[in-house]
Amino acid sequence: MGSGGVQSGDRRSRAGSAEPTGAVPHASPFPNTARPVVSSDPSVAELVATLPLGRGRLGPGMLRGVTELFAARPETWSERLVPTSDGRVYVRLFRCDELEVWLLGWEGGQETTWHDHGGSSGSFRVVEGALLEEFRRPSGTLGRRVLRVGEGASFGPGYAHNVIREQSGPALSIHAYSPALHTMTYFRPTALGLAAVETRVVDGPDDLRASTTPLREPATTGEAPTGRPDHAGAREVPRPERGIATLLDAARARLDRLGPLEAAAAVAEGAVLVDTRPLAQRLADGEVPGAVVIERNVLEWRLEPSSDARLPWATSPELRVIVMCDEGYASSLAAASLRDLGLRHATDLEGGFQAWRAAGLPVRPALVPPDLLRRAAAAGVAGGGVRADGAA
Ligand SMILES: [Fe+2]
Repeated sequence: MGSGGVQSGDRRSRAGSAEPTGAVPHASPFPNTARPVVSSDPSVAELVATLPLGRGRLGPGMLRGVTELFAARPETWSERLVPTSDGRVYVRLFRCDELEVWLLGWEGGQETTWHDHGGSSGSFRVVEGALLEEFRRPSGTLGRRVLRVGEGASFGPGYAHNVIREQSGPALSIHAYSPALHTMTYFRPTALGLAAVETRVVDGPDDLRASTTPLREPATTGEAPTGRPDHAGAREVPRPERGIATLLDAARARLDRLGPLEAAAAVAEGAVLVDTRPLAQRLADGEVPGAVVIERNVLEWRLEPSSDARLPWATSPELRVIVMCDEGYASSLAAASLRDLGLRHATDLEGGFQAWRAAGLPVRPALVPPDLLRRAAAAGVAGGGVRADGAA
């Protein structure tokens, strides 16, 4: 990395402080691939060329292998940054759509705050010093553990944690995410577990909100450096505006969206129309006969073939899913998330339920189990106009 990428402190060699893994140089647990990898850093390019990129997202186990590989090759990261008490620092070692790898530097007292990683899986590994990780168990209870050199954690979507450098002195860790991070939700711990505070569009790892230190020069991908709005004083090239419109455009650029008539034809040929609207909207407007109702908050878990909570028929990444929401906005983000999970044919319905109905395609009153109706009415979800037969 060029010296211009270092904000404070002199560069110093950390080659001697890298994790003593004893790994055979250049060894990889992954089959070699012929896919060329763009990187201006020869050591990174050589390493990444051994990864199974071009085959979809990497799972937690594969990402653990990625962090192990980088840790065993200190020439890819050892002189990239120096931790400083001014704020946590980080540098992106590699990025493509399927994978990004970061080196993070920590000083005593710095932490990420509680967060998840959007739809991405991840893995991180301590390569210098030690970190404290607070994490949420599948049961919802919170745990904590100290991670020393050579230790780390790997996780799938939905995992939430807070990483802390408790002791004084520097620490370094390598983080890998697949697909590259797009959104993260931040939480605060409560007596009842973690409560979501906000979800942000991000362009990097754990510390985007808390740190005030600018991104180091991304030396490996050959792409333009991106500034970050959360880092006052960043001197890099200003980042392009990132907001929901940008996120939506990016999602739709990956989809072959269908209009109502096209969607109806696709359903006739075996595609599954998935209605992600909340109960209140279905009660108010009705449903599409034959559509499968999967509310948005559980969508990925119901359709990803390896999920323990998948629907019985969601067994293949070849499944043709058409996501429908009310007006065709949230459905685009949902369909992109399914694409990230490997459902390569996932797309969404332009204009959502409203466009479907306006096109004169079949709709019917919502068919909701009576007990759910009673609970909804008691909670005020459906209002007083709901009859027991589900008609609004
Ligand atoms: Fe994280």
